[in-house]
Amino acid sequence: MFNAKKFVENSLKEIQKTVGDHKVISACSGGVDSTVTTALVHRAVGDKLLAVFIDDGLRREGEPEFVVETLKKLGIKTRYIDAKAEFFAALKGKTDAEEKRKAFRDKFYKTLGKAATEEKVEFIAQGTIKADVVETVQGIKSQHNVLEQIGINPEIYGYKILEPLKELFKPEVRQVARELGLPNEISERMPFPGPALSLRVLGEVTPERVAIVRKATQIVEEETRKLGTFQNFAVLHSDKATGIKNGKRVYGDIITIRIVESTDAVTARAHEVSYAILRRIAQRITSEIPSVVRCLYDITDKPPATIEFE
Ligand code: XMP
Repeated sequence: MFNAKKFVENSLKEIQKTVGDHKVISACSGGVDSTVTTALVHRAVGDKLLAVFIDDGLRREGEPEFVVETLKKLGIKTRYIDAKAEFFAALKGKTDAEEKRKAFRDKFYKTLGKAATEEKVEFIAQGTIKADVVETVQGIKSQHNVLEQIGINPEIYGYKILEPLKELFKPEVRQVARELGLPNEISERMPFPGPALSLRVLGEVTPERVAIVRKATQIVEEETRKLGTFQNFAVLHSDKATGIKNGKRVYGDIITIRIVESTDAVTARAHEVSYAILRRIAQRITSEIPSVVRCLYDITDKPPATIEFE
């Protein structure tokens, strides 16, 4: 039986021993894993930690403000890095899922590496958890934050890595979040992938296409908040479909709605959502986002599908 209190006690000792007098940077996206990591390292080394929020332009509506504000409330020194233009430049012209993941990963580590050099920091803390490692090693996908386990030495990016949660699965990470006294908004937060909305824009990732999926995501989240499901989101397709907008036949965007039940993200079940909710989401998406003419619901479990489309 996992004991969160013991885990925290042991982790604090271990982090203190590893870090010594050095400084640490923690890349915090606001998700459960990276926020728990940041809070844990902060408890261990106090002001020797600097949290950074990298704004890659791929976050959900209101997320950058929420994350920076939450870290501030926790008393953690935080730096906001605006890297939107650089991430979009790195993703420009890329349509293959793995190529996009690798471009994201490379830009992510270069941005962090640059911040680490500027801040004269030796360690980077990140919220890698067991499922990330397992799936990357198995070759299911290149998780953006898994390097050493697949033979990439993180020192090529200029620093050492601290991964205090790498033996835990999501439910245990949530227990640690509660143990650390983090707000419910964090401990119960819906999982959201590191490469963010880039995984939910099939085909090329451009600011315009991200804006479409961001709005659709906001609608799906608003309409499904009470379901208590594991992950609820929208995906923008790369192909188009015929529809009618303002009385005219148009060739417009397609959005898939995905709502899944899971505990650890290793397997998942498509939620049997009520038709009334689906209709409302479809009506809102097609009326609030001008380019979208069609909404679909994904009824596939994991396996054989994955939770994300990319
Ligand atoms: P899949 O799509 O593989 O996702 O079934 C399993 C869980 O992991 C999340 N996910 C990621 N998280 N970086 C992350 O931090 C990634 O590259 C990544 N890919 C998938 C996904 O949202 C789900 O919770």
